Amino acid sequence: MSGGRALLGGRRRGSNVWLRSIIVAFVVLFVWLQLMFASLGDTSDAGGGDYNDSMAAILSMVPSVLHKFLTPRPRNSTGALNGSAAALAAMAALRGGLNLSEIKRNIAQYNYQQTVYNEDIFGPLQNDSVVIVIQIHDRITYLRHLIVSLAQARDISTALIVFSHDYYDEEINSLVQSIDFCKVIQIFYPYSIQTHPHEYPGEDPNDCPRDIQREEALVRKCNNALYPDLYGHYREAKFTQTKHHWWWKANRVFNQLDVTHNHSGLVVFLEEDHYVAEDFIHVLKLMERTCQTSCRHCNILSLGTYLKTYNYYGKKEVMRAMKQQNVAAGQVQPSWSFQVLPSLYQHTQKVEVTPWMSSKHNMGMAFNRTTWMKIVGCADYFCKYDDYNWDWSLQQVSQNCLKQKLHAMVVRGPRVFHIGECGVHHKKKNCESTAVISKVQKVLKVAKRHLYPDYLTQTYVTPMKKTKLRKGNGGWGDRRDHMLCMGMTLR
Ligand SMILES: *[C@@H]1O[C@H](CO)[C@@H](O)[C@H](O)[C@H]1NC(C)=O
Ligand SMILES: *[C@@H]1O[C@H](CO)[C@@H](O)[C@H](O)[C@H]1NC(C)=O
Ligand SMILES: *[C@@H]1O[C@H](CO)[C@@H](O)[C@H](O)[C@H]1NC(C)=O
Ligand SMILES: *[C@@H]1O[C@H](CO)[C@@H](O)[C@H](O)[C@H]1NC(C)=O
Ligand SMILES: *[C@@H]1O[C@H](CO)[C@@H](O)[C@H](O)[C@H]1NC(C)=O
Ligand SMILES: *[C@@H]1O[C@H](CO)[C@@H](O)[C@H](O)[C@H]1NC(C)=O
Repeated sequence: MSGGRALLGGRRRGSNVWLRSIIVAFVVLFVWLQLMFASLGDTSDAGGGDYNDSMAAILSMVPSVLHKFLTPRPRNSTGALNGSAAALAAMAALRGGLNLSEIKRNIAQYNYQQTVYNEDIFGPLQNDSVVIVIQIHDRITYLRHLIVSLAQARDISTALIVFSHDYYDEEINSLVQSIDFCKVIQIFYPYSIQTHPHEYPGEDPNDCPRDIQREEALVRKCNNALYPDLYGHYREAKFTQTKHHWWWKANRVFNQLDVTHNHSGLVVFLEEDHYVAEDFIHVLKLMERTCQTSCRHCNILSLGTYLKTYNYYGKKEVMRAMKQQNVAAGQVQPSWSFQVLPSLYQHTQKVEVTPWMSSKHNMGMAFNRTTWMKIVGCADYFCKYDDYNWDWSLQQVSQNCLKQKLHAMVVRGPRVFHIGECGVHHKKKNCESTAVISKVQKVLKVAKRHLYPDYLTQTYVTPMKKTKLRKGNGGWGDRRDHMLCMGMTLR
């Protein structure tokens, strides 16, 4: 115990040195990567800064019928929702802000009613259709672009999109309900910080502060005094929500919603700041068929790959660095260097078959109920692992519980892109930047003639080093989080 205290003290004293060496490391890395890519000489289309990212330019790359998803405007309540309870709620919200009890009531109502919009137009969900689950917080600008990209995807009319919210907002609701190109359902995570501002799972006034020493916490008798994480820090509500929400929505989609009750096809997991290529459903189906014929042990598909450059600067890495090194968001600058080369796209699209790795294969992930049933059987490993990242927790499940580990088929030319430059909790002006979106659109335009591949060629990749049991990233030591997570498990 005293060892733990000494360690914590050391971490604090050393934080300036830490910070300096991190910055130096980042600068060195960045320069090195710039040199690497300059020497590749293949980046002129995608990597160069020579693009036009004005709103006018973005709009010019989007068919005009889809501009409505990009331009905020008050919505007439006599639209698709005519007469429903949701419409009444939306009208009430337009007249004035909702208070907390009204928000809770609406959430309960949405979750109870399970209204599937546009089912009358596109027909009931087929058991082999693609279900797309999108986890949403509050970044509506990114969401608008994701919706535009989905609207342009071939065969989207056969899909069901499940919007899973952890933030109730009428503007987001009316955007989602204005979707007219496929079936849509909204679900609301019921234990959000928004609806529990002064109590667990939000922040209870009697919770221990993050950086308090254990001895002092015990004297103070704050709520979670006995349960700091493995780095000696106490719970921070805002860092726990994403993993809880991820687990809740997966359980709800596979085991609770009526509309997906008989569904046995693929479920794709996206986030609000992703962007899809127009052939992503085509590629998914092709990957699914290829698995059935020639990769029987593949049980998870991945539509996005991070290239090396990106991996070091991603949102997850930044959050992780903030947490572990005890520095603020502004100090770990996400120098985001996005490098997707159009040459990755080919008519005979390459896919890699590889053990699933959380940090590489967590974007545009897809699996079916068979795989889910195995994962949910390992709920303990997910819910009690001291790591606030859902993807690292899934890795824990794969490595230490599953009889047959998660084995991924990963497409080399990404069909899902990450357009959010800043993490969930950073509210910087430049987070609204459209530069990345414009870059992605340009990559896809150049690659266009290679989309819709006819078949896939597989390469087998063995990880360079043996993945050994690693310590978690912390942030998940509180017993209340273990219990909430276990309590949301349906099997
Ligand atoms: C960007 O594109 C818009 C619309 O296409 C155009 O009006 C504007 O002049 C362009 N800006 C630059 C810097 O090229
Ligand atoms: C909104 O709906 C009302 C009827 O409820 C109609 O009179 C009005 O013209 C509509 N406004 C717009 C902008 O469509
Ligand atoms: C919330 O608003 C409703 C209707 O406007 C009202 O009846 C209720 O008392 C309000 N609740 C709180 C806690 O303010
Ligand atoms: C899907 O539904 C069809 C009939 O609509 C049925 O023949 C088929 O067996 C079902 N597939 C699965 C995997 O349940
Ligand atoms: C699921 O299948 C059962 C039996 O085939 C059927 O009775 C039920 O209506 C189906 N549910 C949905 C939501 O399609
Ligand atoms: C679900 O995926 C597994 C591979 O994980 C595959 O073996 C199985 O056939 C799939 N089930 C259906 C109904 O497609």
